[in-house]
Amino acid sequence: MLHAQSVLPPLVLKGKKLTVPIVQGGMGVGVSLHPLAGAVAREGGLGVLSSAAIDRLVSRRLGRKVDTYEAVRDEVALARSQGGFAGINIMVALQRDFVDSVKGAIDAGADAIIAGAGLPTSLPAIHNPRDTALIPIVSSARALEIICKKWEKLGYRPDAVVLEGPLAGGHLGFKFQEIDLPSNALEVLLPAVKDMARKHGDFPVIVAGGIFTHDDILNFIRQGADGVQMATRFLATEESSADRAYKQAVLNATKEDILVARDPASPCGLPFRVLRQSPMFRSALQGKRKPKCNKGYVLLKDAEGRFSRCLGKEDGDHYFCICNGLLSSAGYDPEDEEPLYTVGSNAYRVTSVLPVKALMDELRGTAA
Ligand SMILES: Cc1cc2nc3c(=O)[nH]c(=O)nc-3n(C[C@H](O)[C@H](O)[C@H](O)COP(=O)(O)O)c2cc1C
Repeated sequence: MLHAQSVLPPLVLKGKKLTVPIVQGGMGVGVSLHPLAGAVAREGGLGVLSSAAIDRLVSRRLGRKVDTYEAVRDEVALARSQGGFAGINIMVALQRDFVDSVKGAIDAGADAIIAGAGLPTSLPAIHNPRDTALIPIVSSARALEIICKKWEKLGYRPDAVVLEGPLAGGHLGFKFQEIDLPSNALEVLLPAVKDMARKHGDFPVIVAGGIFTHDDILNFIRQGADGVQMATRFLATEESSADRAYKQAVLNATKEDILVARDPASPCGLPFRVLRQSPMFRSALQGKRKPKCNKGYVLLKDAEGRFSRCLGKEDGDHYFCICNGLLSSAGYDPEDEEPLYTVGSNAYRVTSVLPVKALMDELRGTAA
């Protein structure tokens, strides 16, 4: 597909050339599905699905029950069906479904697997990646070093890395007390991660968290980044599968409405950025929520090593039910469960819901 000339350089991932160095960040649960990822792919960026709860979402779309492997295959194929490049975000924290998600993505020919919310140390060993780029998400040079050393033993080096700073949406790779440290600002973290990437094979570094405008992208490219990953801007697009109330809550948000949940917190055990007015978060804050887990994606192992425990289920006073809440915010059974909204820290700057094409024109600097 031909696009107006952009001053932004292309980004090459495992030999595939993205005409714009923009990766649309995976947004679970159910926000970045094939309508969004496919639209970004067609515009020359990397469209990224989220694997979270994808079996339920695709089963509902197809009107028959499919497992995680089949759901991932189906969704990846659809996202790539109209041209361009599309991949999938697979969170390590969703341990029970991790291997099936990886296999489904590779078998469907996903252009990339982007894996974070934990260190994906075994990713290259799960399934021969063939043409699929394997891209870990890290929040420090140290985490990247650990991954590179583990992957070297498996005969693989990352095809790129996403460096996600503390302004991102979703789960954050920092301790609560480290989120606001000046030493953790994305531009401060970048040089050491770039050096680490050079040391281990000189693969591209993609920065994420708080990037909002075309000029932000240019600034990070000038500082040595090879590409950017952006999510909050894509959350409020026409093609995103967030439901209407979620998009409206983003438009209404002020800076003070955006906070990192501490108590109640995410059952994943990582800091999680929320909109204060999310109905589920408000109920949990007021102690009005009864634990009501009936999904079980975020499971911890019990004493016998089975994935059977969830903090959201065991302790509803201190943890919210993230699977139900996020599914609800993507329009899945909203009558059964209150929605939970996650956003990046710049969500208060979003003023309208755009079609992906208009947003991509703006971001690559080719808008009329
Ligand atoms: C609504 C939303 C959902 C997200 N879900 C995920 C996810 O499921 N897995 C993940 O690794 N990152 C997730 N993220 C993080 C993004 O992929 C991205 O790296 C980050 O938000 C970039 O910062 P920005 O939102 O300021 O552009 C999510 C972000 C948002 C806003």
